[in-house]
Amino acid sequence: MPIKFDRPAVTDSAPDPSESLAALRDRAPILAKFEKPPLGVVLGSGLGGLADAIESPTIVPYAEIPGLAASTASGHRGEFLIGHLASRPVIAMAGRLHVYEGHSLRDVTRPVALMAGLGINELVVSCAAGGLNPNFNVGDLVLLNEHSSWLDGKLGAPPTSFQRTNDSANESAAAAGCFRRSLSTCDPQLDAIAHQTAHTNGFELRRGMYLAVNGPNYETRAECRMMRRLGADLVGMSTVPELLCAASAGVRTLGISVVTNLALPDAPATADHADVLEVCERAAERLQQIVRAIATHGA
Ligand code: HPA
Repeated sequence: MPIKFDRPAVTDSAPDPSESLAALRDRAPILAKFEKPPLGVVLGSGLGGLADAIESPTIVPYAEIPGLAASTASGHRGEFLIGHLASRPVIAMAGRLHVYEGHSLRDVTRPVALMAGLGINELVVSCAAGGLNPNFNVGDLVLLNEHSSWLDGKLGAPPTSFQRTNDSANESAAAAGCFRRSLSTCDPQLDAIAHQTAHTNGFELRRGMYLAVNGPNYETRAECRMMRRLGADLVGMSTVPELLCAASAGVRTLGISVVTNLALPDAPATADHADVLEVCERAAERLQQIVRAIATHGA
């Protein structure tokens, strides 16, 4: 027997999304020349180095697009970079928006919804995370095969006109006014490309469950212990809303974390944002190999 509920209204004072899309197209005329759908990439804390690999990028700050908020977090540029990587059109978010900056989940995901509106078929989302799994080491890359979100707020679906395919399960659940299980966000083909790349280049790619929390503080020892017992391998402050937003628009998604610090209750270590950025810098090359392979083989 499905559980019925009254859908709460999600208030949204942002301009019509098609206005944001038109502004982005206007500032990046290269978008009209792309010969195939671009690959979408979200570059998290300290992972902006990959941005340098994008050829002849057109740079559009989020703040110049009506409806998008500017990023305020350290290590996050807050710009779209639109160009080519491995001969594939690419649109990358250099820096993201976070709930801890005071943004709503709708605001956090709006740049991703716009990328869906631009026609991306695949999205790779990268982030820094604390390792709760004692088998993880600082610097490991972990593919997010499962996730859970404790982030505050409501995640709206992207506008229907931005959706790549009909999400019929979602629509019929919504029409019937009942709950449905959250989407799976780890695309099997992208997962296989990522693992093949790791194998070919001789590095290990792990898998794990990512738990998203509000932050901005790191977790207490008691919280780390509790999260680990609940099955989380990683803890971070982002990524899940972006993956869900893209997946609900029919975009194939893959999330990858860099373990920047160990969040182990019985071997506590302090981590500050500077440590996080340094570890990411060192992991960026392996991440870049994966993104290049997806750019080449994923379409
Ligand atoms: N906790 C939450 N978010 C993080 C961490 C952490 O330990 N490391 C990097 N992002």
